[in-house]
Amino acid sequence: MIERTFFMIKPDGVRRELRDEIIKRVKVWSFNIVTSKKLTIAKPLAEKLYAMHRGKPFYDGLVRFITSGPVEVFVLEGDNIIMGLRDLMGTTDPRKAKAETIRGDLREENVLNHEGIIKNLVHGSDSIESAKYEIPIFFGKEFKV
Ligand code: RTP
Ligand code: MG
Repeated sequence: MIERTFFMIKPDGVRRELRDEIIKRVKVWSFNIVTSKKLTIAKPLAEKLYAMHRGKPFYDGLVRFITSGPVEVFVLEGDNIIMGLRDLMGTTDPRKAKAETIRGDLREENVLNHEGIIKNLVHGSDSIESAKYEIPIFFGKEFKV
């Protein structure tokens, strides 16, 4: 089934200039870019994106991390892309991510930032519901899921 998903290169990925390497991997899997833009996320936007994590120990640090520098956000489209992209990204903790995943192959020596937040380069919606929630936060209603 052709799906759309929300994908983001987080501040650590942009800072390390891994954008082209990451997008190359996405394209190898025939995932098409519908639209994209670069921005620095403002705090209210970060709080909306991570609303499901509110109250968790890492929430405040996560909001600070995701607003700490420019990110690049995408709507991607492809067959079974939501789960396919999650597989391509690898597990949340890059130290546990398999070889040939983005998080596994491109992780830095120290995967935790100064607040203990996991720097894992990328974000991808984890379900159709998440994609429907996340895409309009960044792209309005124009790019329907
Ligand atoms: P994402 O939402 O960014 O695609 O990552 P995910 O689904 O793999 O992980 P999730 O559980 O949704 O957590 C969101 C982000 O919070 C940071 N985190 N740090 N220090 C910690 O224990 C911890 N736990 C989560 C990571 O940046 C994670 O991607
Ligand atoms: Mg998540």
